[in-house]
Parts: sequence; structure tokens; C-alpha cells
Amino acid sequence: MEVIITPEEMQGWSRQQHRTGLTVGLVPTMGCLHEGHLSLIDTAATRCDVVVVSLFVNPTQFGPNEDFAKYPRTVEEDLARCRERGVAAVFLPQAAVMYAGDASVSVVEEGLSGRWCGASRPGHFNGVCTVVAKLFNIALPDVAVFGQKDYQQAAIIKRMVRDLNFPLEVVVAPIIRDDDGLAKSSRNGYLSVAEREMGLGLSRALGLARAAVATGESDAGEVVRRMRQHLTEAGLRVDYVGIADVETLEPVSVLAAGQVALVAAYAGKTRLIDNTIL
Ligand code: PAJ
Repeated sequence: MEVIITPEEMQGWSRQQHRTGLTVGLVPTMGCLHEGHLSLIDTAATRCDVVVVSLFVNPTQFGPNEDFAKYPRTVEEDLARCRERGVAAVFLPQAAVMYAGDASVSVVEEGLSGRWCGASRPGHFNGVCTVVAKLFNIALPDVAVFGQKDYQQAAIIKRMVRDLNFPLEVVVAPIIRDDDGLAKSSRNGYLSVAEREMGLGLSRALGLARAAVATGESDAGEVVRRMRQHLTEAGLRVDYVGIADVETLEPVSVLAAGQVALVAAYAGKTRLIDNTIL
């Protein structure tokens, strides 16, 4: 497995793969790899000849009061996991090579970013779009794999690829969960035992929405109220709860199968997100 630290070398490596007729799959991550990330690697491997994983805690997508400084960094373990999983190359850049001190060009998304995570994390998705656009230009993938865990992020990346004509396919892979339903997340490591228990409220609240669809309920507002109440009773501080159109991410008033239910809530100081397609 190659460990590549400069954009120029990464581009050279990918061009070489393409010259020999191989397709390249990219899995962008911020490291602290868990089963969720590893499943994206497996998905990329089924679609492409060689898989590149990027490990980069991107400063521009963290707000001033967020956890950039304490975000978990486990590079040695991450490299070992990638090696075991058959990854061909890891891109592991330093922030200084990713962002020139006087960088003045970025990618701004103005349609899907306004609500949900975008509302509580101003600037977050512009940071994500900018770094992902850079990673696309650096790793030159044929396919890029993202997780449904960050539903809004995946929708925004698909929009960026469409609107800026990136020559690649975006694949969205399913959410990997612990046995009790908690979606795997690098941030789960922040949780105390009691907070982890509270965290189960998110997937249970999503279960309420699924059950409502199954019984033919149609008042989305009422279902959202019930989900919110469930989160609060679990001891969580709600950031948002919503049921939205899968494409536009606009909230719906009439509940129907095929929509997406989205939740974000704090267990203590840790912000957790989850979602499900109904
Ligand atoms: P990170 O949080 O490390 O996640 C990397 C990828 O793993 C994302 O596509 C995310 O949706 C996916 N993922 C995380 N948990 C998952 C789970 N339980 N099941 C399935 N997939 C899961 O998302 C980012 O990093 C960054 O914003 C990034 C796209 C790398 C840009 O910096």
C-alpha cells in the first residue's frame, strides 16, 4: 500500500493507474476509521480496480466552537486497517499542503445547505465541498463513495458533481450501525456510558417514523412532534428533527414512503446525527 502525502504525487499515481487501464475508487475520510468507513472501502472495491482512501481532518469544515482540535486522530491504526482491507493507496496530506496561506477560491453550495446540519453549522458544507472538490482533482477517481450516514452531505456532493461536471460517479453506501442501532461514528468515542445509552434515542426516533409510514399515517408534522418528544425523553438536546424530500431536502407535510427522516441531537456535548429512508 502506498502512503502519499503530496497532491502532485497523488495525481501522478492515479494517472499511472489510468494509463494501465485501471479504474480508481476514492473514499474520502477524516480518519479514525470504523466499520462504516471500511464498508465504503468494500463498496469502492466492488466498483473499481484500485481504491484510494484519503485521511484528512479538514479544518475548513469545522466551526470556531467545534471539535477540530480534539477530533480523534489515529493515523497508525487507520493505515493498518486500510492495508488489511486491500486499499492500494492512502492520501495523507498536511493542512499546509492542502491550503495555501492566501487561498482565495472555494466551492459554495447555495441550495441544499440552508437547512438541517447547514443551519446549525454555518459554512460547514462549503468547507466540505471545497475539500471534496480538491480531493477529486487530486485523486482523479472514476467513482467516489460516501455514506448515507451524512445524508445531506451526500446529496450536496452529488449536486456539486452535477453542477460542476466532475467526471466521476458518486455512490452512496448504507449506514453501518452497532448491534443496538447506534450509527457508527468517529465521535461515538466521546460518549460516556450514559450518553451512549441516550444516543440510542436517535435510531429509535427514526423507527417511530418508519412505523408511522407502515401504519399509513399521513401527518408528517405530528410524526415529527412524536420523534422530537422521544429524543427529549431519552435525555437528548434536539438540534433538528425533520421529514424531507430525498432530492430537495425540503420538509414535507404529507408523510409518504420514499421520504427521508433526519435527526440531530446532543448527548451531553457530543452532537450525533442519523437518518433513514422511509
Ligand atoms: P468522515 O466523518 O470521516 O466520514 C467519511 C465517510 O464515511 C462519509 O462519507 C460518511 O458518510 C461515511 N460514514 C461515516 N459513518 C458511517 C456509517 N456509520 N455508515 C456508513 N458510512 C459512514 O464525512 C466526512 O468524513 C468529511 O466530511 C469528508 C467527506 C471526508 C470531507 O472532509
